[in-house]
Amino acid sequence: MEEISKLTRQTLARIKPYVPGKPIEEVQREYGLKDVIKLASNENPLGPSPKAQEALALNLGKVNIYPDGSCYHLKEDLARHVGLDPDNLIIGNGSDEVLKLLSETFINEGDEAIMADPSFSEYDFCVTLMGGNMVKVPVNEKFALDLEAMAAAINEKTKLVFVCNPNNPTGAVVSGAELDAFLAKVPENVVVVFDEAYFEYVDDPGYRSGLDYLKEGRGNVVVLRTFSKIYGLSGLRVGYGMAQPELIRWISRTREPFNVNSLAQLGARAALTDQEFLTKSRHVNNEGKAYLYQEFQARNLKYVPTNANFIFVDLGVDSKKAFESMLRQGVIIRTGDIFGYPTFIRVTVGTEAENRRFIAALDQTLKELR
Ligand SMILES: Cc1ncc(COP(=O)(O)O)c(C=O)c1O
Repeated sequence: MEEISKLTRQTLARIKPYVPGKPIEEVQREYGLKDVIKLASNENPLGPSPKAQEALALNLGKVNIYPDGSCYHLKEDLARHVGLDPDNLIIGNGSDEVLKLLSETFINEGDEAIMADPSFSEYDFCVTLMGGNMVKVPVNEKFALDLEAMAAAINEKTKLVFVCNPNNPTGAVVSGAELDAFLAKVPENVVVVFDEAYFEYVDDPGYRSGLDYLKEGRGNVVVLRTFSKIYGLSGLRVGYGMAQPELIRWISRTREPFNVNSLAQLGARAALTDQEFLTKSRHVNNEGKAYLYQEFQARNLKYVPTNANFIFVDLGVDSKKAFESMLRQGVIIRTGDIFGYPTFIRVTVGTEAENRRFIAALDQTLKELR
């Protein structure tokens, strides 16, 4: 192996493997459990959009044909949905892929990018993969992005700034006023990537989407959204990026010709029309949030008020031990240690039954560990 490591690109030695949410089947196998719930990856607990499921079932017989590499119809639908033109859009194999394409487009060896800490680890992965260096700026006391400090971190090497809004794993948002002030300080040759994976869950009235800036004509803004969260299509892998056409054309040079499969395109198009499912998903999430807040308060646990479908909460005990204890009870959550907060966990808001089960498991865990 030592020989191979001499052959591989140097930057790979700096890459830390992504820590995914533990899969349900793995916990069933390892712990001999049947009934396991996963509240670890911010998926939609209601399943996939029913309209998407219908479209997938109807089109299974067509997968012998290559997909439309240009995603023509999905782009047309999305353009109408967000109020842009199709040439403002790039579709990816999840927004993860668009993040990778962005790094491939902009990052040369030694270039810098800026992200919050903690925030979504894929930014670091994609930039490091291209030989770039990630500068991490701690979140503020509200667990939201410290945009002033992020703007101050920009220098002549900076290419990309990642604004995860709502931020994963904290669920906090930055306000429109803060974004206005931030963008006024960002030079035109630095691209601001708004990651709005949880946009559809936001309920803060002061929130402003990066799309507003794009529509105002800003050239150095990219906005990412996904079908993985509220639309319930994580397994299909569809996300998209929005920017000015020239920027989209450059990003598109890095894209594989058939990066989004045909079922994913059809599922996404159908999900986009499923207003009923969206409304229900938002409702279940809001009810779940209210229930979990109340239960956390009753146990004196500090949590970050969320604008997404997950909550970052301080258990005051070792989160790895809490994770193990909850796994034994068939509940999968995310530990905070990977984000630099060893006593926190991140829990996805589930269905009412899942949330109750999580709270019952939490009580047992706190009894064991306190
Ligand atoms: C902030 C953020 N951005 C992007 C993604 C990736 O989503 P996708 O499934 O579209 O690749 C996630 C998924 O967890 C996320 O939390």
